Amino acid sequence: MSDRAVDRTWGKGAGVAHEVRGVVARAKGTAVSLETIVVPDPGPGEALVRVQACGVCHTDLHYREGAINDEFPFLLGHEAAGVVEAVGPDVAEVAPGDFVVLAWRAPCGECRSCRRGRPWYCFASRNATQPMTLPDGTPLSAALGIGAFAEKTLVAAGQAVKVDPAARPEAAGLIGCGVMAGLGAALHTGNVGRGDTVAVFGCGGVGDAAIAGAVLAGARQVIAVDIDPRKLAWAREFGATDTVDASVVDPVEAVRGLTAGLGVDVAIEAVGRPETMRQAFYSRDLAGTLVQVGVPDPSMVIELPMIEFFGRGGALKPSWYGDCLPSRDFPTLIGLYLSGKLDLDRFVSETISLDDVEGAFARMQQGAILRSVVVF
Ligand code: APR
Ligand code: ZN
Ligand code: ZN
Repeated sequence: MSDRAVDRTWGKGAGVAHEVRGVVARAKGTAVSLETIVVPDPGPGEALVRVQACGVCHTDLHYREGAINDEFPFLLGHEAAGVVEAVGPDVAEVAPGDFVVLAWRAPCGECRSCRRGRPWYCFASRNATQPMTLPDGTPLSAALGIGAFAEKTLVAAGQAVKVDPAARPEAAGLIGCGVMAGLGAALHTGNVGRGDTVAVFGCGGVGDAAIAGAVLAGARQVIAVDIDPRKLAWAREFGATDTVDASVVDPVEAVRGLTAGLGVDVAIEAVGRPETMRQAFYSRDLAGTLVQVGVPDPSMVIELPMIEFFGRGGALKPSWYGDCLPSRDFPTLIGLYLSGKLDLDRFVSETISLDDVEGAFARMQQGAILRSVVVF
């Protein structure tokens, strides 16, 4: 740990700031760099977290490529677990020493969705108010309001969700983004129930989590669809009952063939492409649900005959962060992990050091791994 408290004061902060190492994307499309960053002490409503592990997610790469917005420089990393080091004066949710998983949804309690009792859709999720900066004072944009490829990070206290410290940080942190997105796509958005049939298109980390979620919910059949046989083999390890190699057969025909010609109750798209969205749409049984959890590129369009949409009934539902409520779901999922019912360890393909994030992006693009996790 190269942390060094420095004598630097901040407007609303408590006065001390911390210089630590963090992974910064300085400009569109250029390699990330390991830099000294300045993390303020927590002010009102904030928590300072010593990061123990942080997964490498596609969204970090999208930030680096300028595909999210142009607010460079970014402090990347957002799938993290760690220990609360300090909290602001009014913070009651967490205390120093708590083991936490960081969430990019911290319901505000005040927006129109929270007020209607739907905090899992919160439209004004909270983040730290003080910026983390470069040593020259340049503010950093924290990825998804977190910024956890850093030895310490500053978040809104509501983003730090206390969970059982018996969980390994490198597994627990994954609940903070991709795994939660997939699990929630099945459990919350798709509302998979006991005895349902499910097809999951795309078996990366998100799709495999959707498979695990469908199994947890009691699905009787879970069909994994991918174009990479390695991914299909892993999908079976997460509980898929059948696999379809869409590079060899027509996946819609195959899913129908595996379901007595009917199609599935819930089809989950976890790739983020128009062709898989269309395949998932046509793989459903009558009144089936299509869940879209793969993130499309803004240029992508799907065209569907309106009569097919109307005639088949059911629902088409996008799933943002698995419609999760972190304060409710993270402790529950960590409990399932610790009791052996949810294999989070299986998502951890490799642990790496903070200076290997760029290498992890390359391995992610080659499809060789489910998740690389930075450990500190
Ligand atoms: N049909 C089926 N599977 C496909 C196809 C296709 N046409 N094209 C790609 N795939 C598979 C890949 O082989 C890979 O296994 O989709 C999977 C995508 O997995 P990852 O690249 O590991 O991505 P993951 O982290 O799981 O995220 C999936 O969800 O959150 C979003 O931004 C994320 O859009 C991404 C999606
Ligand atoms: Zn809200
Ligand atoms: Zn993510």
